[in-house]
Amino acid sequence: MKVVLGLLILGLVGVSFQAQLRLTVYYESLCPDSRRFIINQLYPTLNLLGGVNNEFLEAEFVPYGKANTTFVNGTYEFVCQHGRNECLGNIIHNCALAKLHKNESAAYINCMMDSFNAPIDAEACAISVGVNYTRIGECYNNWEGPTILASAGIRTHDLDPTLYYVPWIVYNDVWRVEDMIGSEQNLLNVICQKLDNSTRPTQCDQ
Ligand SMILES: *[C@@H]1O[C@H](CO)[C@@H](O)[C@H](O)[C@H]1NC(C)=O
Ligand SMILES: *[C@@H]1O[C@H](CO)[C@@H](O)[C@H](O)[C@H]1NC(C)=O
Ligand SMILES: *[C@@H]1O[C@H](CO)[C@@H](O)[C@H](O)[C@H]1NC(C)=O
Ligand SMILES: *[C@@H]1O[C@H](CO)[C@@H](O)[C@H](O)[C@H]1NC(C)=O
Ligand SMILES: *[C@@H]1O[C@H](CO)[C@@H](O)[C@H](O)[C@H]1NC(C)=O
Repeated sequence: MKVVLGLLILGLVGVSFQAQLRLTVYYESLCPDSRRFIINQLYPTLNLLGGVNNEFLEAEFVPYGKANTTFVNGTYEFVCQHGRNECLGNIIHNCALAKLHKNESAAYINCMMDSFNAPIDAEACAISVGVNYTRIGECYNNWEGPTILASAGIRTHDLDPTLYYVPWIVYNDVWRVEDMIGSEQNLLNVICQKLDNSTRPTQCDQ
């Protein structure tokens, strides 16, 4: 009886895990396509569905993109597609993700992507979205920030297939070119197609 009950609970847990889509976005802080996607598609859609980890979908941000990492004389060094400021921006985004609540970090990242002076606007964005900048700044200004960015780099370099475009959009760890292109045009539409009819949000019917 206990075994049957255990299996039943495992079954229910399994079903509820399956119902929630996982969306992972590999991006870089100064990339125009990444900005457009986060500002026009991802952030508004997350707000519509109920936050970063909502009933239907959990979104994950991985700020690193097409950068490279080397470990030189005990410190990480990064080279980024859009120059040094992009690397600094990527560190700030990673620190925000590590230090803030998920909803807060999404609001913060959205503000940073909308700013043309990143990373200078790091503190202004914290004020604008109402989060404590001290924790982000402490991470950014010591070894912690580069170390987290290096981890984001390992995840990004490990992707299969290899990332060749940003934002690189992956559902449940599986990348498909049509999902990526479709999500840039109409994210809600792609999410709705991927959810079972029985578990779709009402926003899909509009
Ligand atoms: C995140 O934000 C959504 C609204 O966008 C809200 O419904 C949800 O409760 C928030 N989650 C947490 C843990 O605060
Ligand atoms: C590493 O440190 C050593 C000793 O300070 C120095 O000679 C060497 O040039 C450094 N290497 C790089 C790549 O900066
Ligand atoms: C990162 O390394 C790859 C392979 O060497 C190279 O093609 C790419 O241009 C490098 N990226 C940057 C931003 O320098
Ligand atoms: C902001 O965070 C720092 C470091 O965790 C903390 O010392 C400070 O009290 C916080 N400030 C506010 C207004 O919560
Ligand atoms: C979902 O609903 C649409 C129309 O409402 C229908 O065409 C489609 O077959 C349904 N899909 C599944 C998997 O039930």
